[in-house]
Amino acid sequence: MSEDSGGGERRVTLITGASGGIGADLARVFARRGHDLALVARSADKLHLLADEIESSSGRRPLILTFDLTRPDAAERIAADLGAARANPEILVNNAGFGLIGDVMDLDRDDQLRIIDLNVRSLVDITSRLLPQIRASRGKILNVASIAGFFPGGPGMTIYYASKAFVLSFSRGLAQELRNDGVTVSALCPGATPTGFQERAGFGPHILRGVPMTKSIEVAEAGYRGLMAGKREIIPGWFNKLGAAVLPFAPKDVILMLISRVQQKRR
Ligand SMILES: NC(=O)c1ccc[n+]([C@@H]2O[C@H](COP(=O)([O-])OP(=O)(O)OC[C@H]3O[C@@H](n4cnc5c(N)ncnc54)[C@H](OP(=O)(O)O)[C@@H]3O)[C@@H](O)[C@H]2O)c1
Repeated sequence: MSEDSGGGERRVTLITGASGGIGADLARVFARRGHDLALVARSADKLHLLADEIESSSGRRPLILTFDLTRPDAAERIAADLGAARANPEILVNNAGFGLIGDVMDLDRDDQLRIIDLNVRSLVDITSRLLPQIRASRGKILNVASIAGFFPGGPGMTIYYASKAFVLSFSRGLAQELRNDGVTVSALCPGATPTGFQERAGFGPHILRGVPMTKSIEVAEAGYRGLMAGKREIIPGWFNKLGAAVLPFAPKDVILMLISRVQQKRR
């Protein structure tokens, strides 16, 4: 995926939310497997540090695109910057995302709408803009959803759970639409993974105690393997696999009550 596709073009894997957590580990995994990268996030300093690390191990410096993806023009400007750099996106990894703990009634409305702007709107905008190039190169799309997408709802993190149900549903639908185009679409559905996510969401200090966790590098490796194998849903960790298998058959009211209790403890 790193070779010149002709005319001096770079064939790149674009990863959003690459400045930390799962996105940074996805960048490391893709770089190790020989992919040339374009990295997107707001934190230019962190992206440059990661680019230094990747350049020193792989010899290829990733393209850095510093953008706030909640801005309505971000996807358009990313597409323009890729064009200006003669970088052709063949693989798209929509990883950037965040959640907030608290009830809809209590959280700031604009903050909650930013979850939808990032996790939903920007993901759809980037995907649909880059799709013609991805299809032309019979490429791949990896959308980072969550095990949250399998739940009937997520009281105490309602907007986040709903956003991830969207990502999962969007990925399944798009995968089917593109089935004859040589493009695969995979939804990566991690469970609890210690990253910057918990602090940004406003979790209390003891939130992950007793919860089976997966390391972010393991999530990234599972994501890469699943994407390359063309899997539509990738669920890292036995606990999460079990959850995804059982949830569709579990009584919704019971699950909603349990989630509500768990989220209360996390505050
Ligand atoms: N950690 C978990 O337990 C878990 C579980 C399931 C799913 N996930 C999903 O995994 C994905 C990655 O999360 P993570 O756990 O790695 O969290 P993280 O450590 O907080 O990383 C989030 C990444 O998204 C970027 N980002 C946030 N807001 C952005 C914005 N407005 N514009 C551009 N980039 C933005 C951040 O970079 P900047 O701050 O530099 O912009 C960062 O690179 C998310 O979609 C999350 O929902 C996480």
